[in-house]
Amino acid sequence: MPKIRPDQTPEGTAESTETCASGAQSEPNAERATHVAVIMDGNGRWAQSRGKPRLFGHHAGAKRVKEIVRACPDLGVKYLTIFAFSTENWKRTQTEVSGLMSLFRRYIQSELKGLVAEGVRVRFIGDRPRLDNKLIALMDELESVTCENSKVHLTIAINYGGRDEVSRAIKEMARDVKTGVLDPETVDETTLTRYLDTRVLPDPDLVIRTSGEARISNFLLWQSAYSEYEFIDTLWPDFTAEVFADCMARFAHRDRRFGGVKS
Ligand code: FPP
Repeated sequence: MPKIRPDQTPEGTAESTETCASGAQSEPNAERATHVAVIMDGNGRWAQSRGKPRLFGHHAGAKRVKEIVRACPDLGVKYLTIFAFSTENWKRTQTEVSGLMSLFRRYIQSELKGLVAEGVRVRFIGDRPRLDNKLIALMDELESVTCENSKVHLTIAINYGGRDEVSRAIKEMARDVKTGVLDPETVDETTLTRYLDTRVLPDPDLVIRTSGEARISNFLLWQSAYSEYEFIDTLWPDFTAEVFADCMARFAHRDRRFGGVKS
């Protein structure tokens, strides 16, 4: 994503939620989640329960992504951020890591191209230099060809870790202090936000994790300070648009106070 200087305002935070076409999942005036982030967990178990290799589950999981992106407009979701590969996932076997990288390359070339015509803007977050050059080039290209789109903002986290993101942001801030671009006395929460990979995105309203695990695994640590969480048992390859709509319906009944009290 392009760097925003410390004195610039990130886009996106002031965007209003699109109106819902169906309205079937929530009551009138119910809260909508403008930004939903998803930890797509359970691909390995889904495959193993079918006697298949873990990569079979990742391929099935990748197929779900398009369906979920397509469901967003009717559910009032303007921003969808998905966790595809963490800074810790390099610890997996060489076969699984290279299989995932090749899946990302193929997926960007084939599946995601279809989303371009559907008005989806694609962005990637995470530390790119460790990725292979071919994949980086495809990511850059997809960001570029979709940059005029605004129907749904899809952000894919690859080699992403919340702690790594904050460390990189602080390093960049320190450089700007050194060169006189940033006055350390002016640094506040908003300043750090503008150095994060997610600087053009609003904070997530809802973080969903599939597969029954109840942890956040280094995902959007700074940004999810006041997010609501849904930990659901469904494995990611079984996460249909209907399951997504159920999560959104439950979100509509959450009482969000952001540390305050209801008047
Ligand atoms: C976690 O399940 C999933 C991942 C580490 C990879 C997520 C990738 C995809 C859903 C596919 C590709 C996505 C795109 C955007 C092309 P796990 O392997 O940890 O499952 P387990 O907990 O059952 O072992």
